[in-house]
Order: sequence, then structure tokens, then C-alpha cells
Amino acid sequence: MTRDASDHPHPSPLPKGEGADPDNAHDIAIIGAGAAGMMAAITAGRAGASVVALDGAKKLGAKILVSGGGRCNVTHDALHAEDFAGGNRNRINKVLRSFTVEQTVAFFDDLGVTLKRENTGKLFPTTDRARTVLNALIGAMRDADVDIRTDHRVSYVARNGSGFIITTNQCDLHTKRIVLATGGLSLPKTGSDGAGYRFARALGHTVTDTHPALVPLVLPDGHWLTSLSGIAHDAVLTLHGPTGRIVHRQAGAMLCTHFGLSGPAVMDISRHWIAQPDHTLRANLLPGVGFDDLDQDLRAASAHATIVSILRQRLPERLATGVIQYGADMAPTIPMSRLTREERRRVVHAVTALPLPIERDRGYLFAEVTAGGVPLEELDIATMASRVCPGLYLCGEILNVDGRIGGYNFQWAWCTGRLAGMAAADDTPREPLH
Ligand code: FDA
Repeated sequence: MTRDASDHPHPSPLPKGEGADPDNAHDIAIIGAGAAGMMAAITAGRAGASVVALDGAKKLGAKILVSGGGRCNVTHDALHAEDFAGGNRNRINKVLRSFTVEQTVAFFDDLGVTLKRENTGKLFPTTDRARTVLNALIGAMRDADVDIRTDHRVSYVARNGSGFIITTNQCDLHTKRIVLATGGLSLPKTGSDGAGYRFARALGHTVTDTHPALVPLVLPDGHWLTSLSGIAHDAVLTLHGPTGRIVHRQAGAMLCTHFGLSGPAVMDISRHWIAQPDHTLRANLLPGVGFDDLDQDLRAASAHATIVSILRQRLPERLATGVIQYGADMAPTIPMSRLTREERRRVVHAVTALPLPIERDRGYLFAEVTAGGVPLEELDIATMASRVCPGLYLCGEILNVDGRIGGYNFQWAWCTGRLAGMAAADDTPREPLH
């Protein structure tokens, strides 16, 4: 069981001065060696600091390896603060400007990882293997003389004089600075189970409410869309407030699954629905075509044509059949000549504003990121230094920022990890620990 810093009965005070175990005396401890922590470790190590990277996992990089469908979508060629949610836009923008996409590409190129841009704007390694990215990062940590310690799960962190005490399942450490890079709660089997929030709180920070983001959404059992499992279709999803006003809009592929909906557009809009579950999600199955446009097209259609024969020219056949039968509650084979004005408008409404009665999200087990975390206001954004705990730096998903699908979350990890590593090294006096 993990303990809280506030109630930690530390068994024996850590050795000080000459008595300190030199193996456990480092300038900087990076807690959590995921994407952000590795970047912080590389940067701090290259700057000459003595760095230990602690990770609870037996092998590093489980999340990197599963990312981007095993290909690791390292970044995106168009980065804007609007692609992120949670924190203040100006602050996010400042962080993004500190390490541009070009610099990210050059950084990986220097590690021997060439990135290629796909039509979507996403950047992947030319090998199409996430392993290439992970191996390069681990290699760079070694080259920077980072003391990498896997199977070192941190259970306790506290201030100790001007430095910190860290307790792991293997040993205690005493460092001058720490970089908290423990991630959030998404995909906890990779090691990110929210422990970092507890450490952040114990060191004086607040943590906002958190919830899954970039997560598939569940429809009621037996909903007709679940019978279309495997069908993907471009749609425009809209989130409507109680008055019907659109509060969020997301275009992209929507994938029907046996439990409900997935695909980039659904994943992207999920955090907004979760934050406002009383809002209604709708799909326009014909992006760029409005109610009046489709109504006009149907009125102009041949009187002998059936409604499904017209719609299947624009939609996958099973989706066309389903939206008429269940979305508009009508027989798909009804000819246009027998359609009343009211029925025609019902079909148009179902196609252009199909209600998606989401029941819940699939939770952290299936979420790609966590929304919420340590507020950016509690950091000096130029350095990722804590404003409340001197010597503490935070980076990556533990912060109250989550990006869209497409490489944005890794870019956030690279940017914040680099700032934290640079500043922690810069802040570290070069005299021995005492
Ligand atoms: P991350 O969770 O990666 O790392 C945290 C590390 O801290 C872990 O290694 C963990 O073991 C360690 N740790 C936690 N608690 C600890 C403790 N108490 N003691 C010691 N160690 C501890 N993003 C993107 O941009 N492109 C993509 O292609 C994808 N694809 C993708 C797919 C899937 C399935 C998921 C789940 C996520 C993605 N993402 C993504 C999101 C991306 O992976 C995520 O934003 C970053 O990995 C976050 O990096 P961090 O380093 O902040 O946390």
C-alpha cells in the first residue's frame, strides 16, 4: 500500500554529509520516466547535472510502445494552443513556443530517428515503429549519463532541508531537485496510476478534478449503431447545451463499435461530453451538408427512388438503412413519392443531427490521456518550476493540460520535459550534497 507524505513514518533519517550513500546522491531525481520524464532526464543530463530517473515499471516506455497504434505519433506539424484543453491558452502557447515542431524533428533526427509527415499532419518515425523512438530516448539518457532505475516505484516524497527525501520499493534517495513526471491516470497498467497527484498535493500543490480524455464512448446496450461495429464514417459531431446551443464541434472519423463509438472525432470530443454530461451529442453524417441542403436534394430526387437508395449513395449501406429505420423510425424502402413532408424532414433531421445517447465513457483503462491535474498557474511556465515548492519541477500529463489526438500530447511532454530538465539542471549548485 502506498503512503501519503503527510503520514509517512520515515523509519530512519536519511544519511547526511559524508555519510550519504554516493549511489543515492544525485542533483536531480526524475520521478516517472515516461515521455516527459525521459525528455527531462536527457536535457538535465546533457546540461551536466547528475540525474537519476526512477520508474516503477520493470521496463521503460510501455505507453510509448502502444502509442499511435504501435507507430508512435511523435508530434503534429501544426501546433496551436487551441488544440489543447485544461490550462490557460496563453500559458500553453508559451510552452509550445519553447520547443517548436522543427526543433522536435531536429532533436529526434539527432538521435537517429527520422520523422515523416503523413497527410493528416501527424508525424511518425519512418520505421513506423514506436520501438525506434523508445530506444532512441533510452540511448540518449544513457549518453547523458542518467542513472536509469527501473522497478523503483516511489511511494513517498517530502522536503528534507533544502532538498528532498524519496522512498522507493528499493531504496531511499536524497536529492536537491525533483522533476515530477508521473503522468496521469490513463492506461494505468503502464504505470501511471495517479500516484503523482498525491506527491504534488503533499508538496503543496492543488490538483483539479480529473477525468478520462481521448476515450471511446458507450451507447445503451443494443443501440442500433452498435450493430454496425467496424463501420467508420466521416461525421461532424456537435455537443449541444440545454438550450440547444452548440458548445463544441468536432469533424473527423467516427467508428461504430460493439459497445458504442470510437474513432478520432469521438475521442476528441469525449473530454467535452464528460465535462458536461447533461449536454447532448449529435452527429451530422454528411459533413458540409446542412438540413436545408439535404431536404432540397431529397425533394429533387426521383419519385420512384426509395429513400435508402438515395442515402446509400452518400453513406455506407448499413448506416443508411439504420439511420432511416431507427434514427427516423421509418421503412428504408419507402419510395420518395409516398414520403410526407414531415417524414422527409424526419429523415433529414436524423442524417444531419443524429442524437447519440451516450451513457458513459469507457474509463481510464481505455483513455489515452487524463483531463485535469496540477494547474499551470502554480508553475513558472518558463521553467516548469513549482511556485509553491522550491526545487520541484513538473512536466507532462500530470499537469492540467490535455491535447487532441494527433501527436499533441507527446509534444506537450517533450516541451514541458525539456523546460523542466533544463531549469532543474540550471538551478542546481555544483557542490556535493550535504
Ligand atoms: P506517462 O504516463 O507516459 O509516464 C509516466 C511514467 O511515470 C510511467 O513510466 C510510470 O511507470 C511512471 N510512474 C508513475 N507513478 C510512479 C511512481 N509512483 N513511481 C515511479 N514511477 C512512476 N500521444 C501522442 O501524442 N501520440 C500518440 O500516438 C499517442 N498514442 C497513445 C495511445 C495510447 C493507447 C495511450 C494510452 C496514450 C497515447 N498518447 C499519445 C498519449 C501519450 O502517451 C501521453 O500523453 C504521454 O505518454 C504522457 O507522458 P508522461 O511522461 O507525462 O506520462
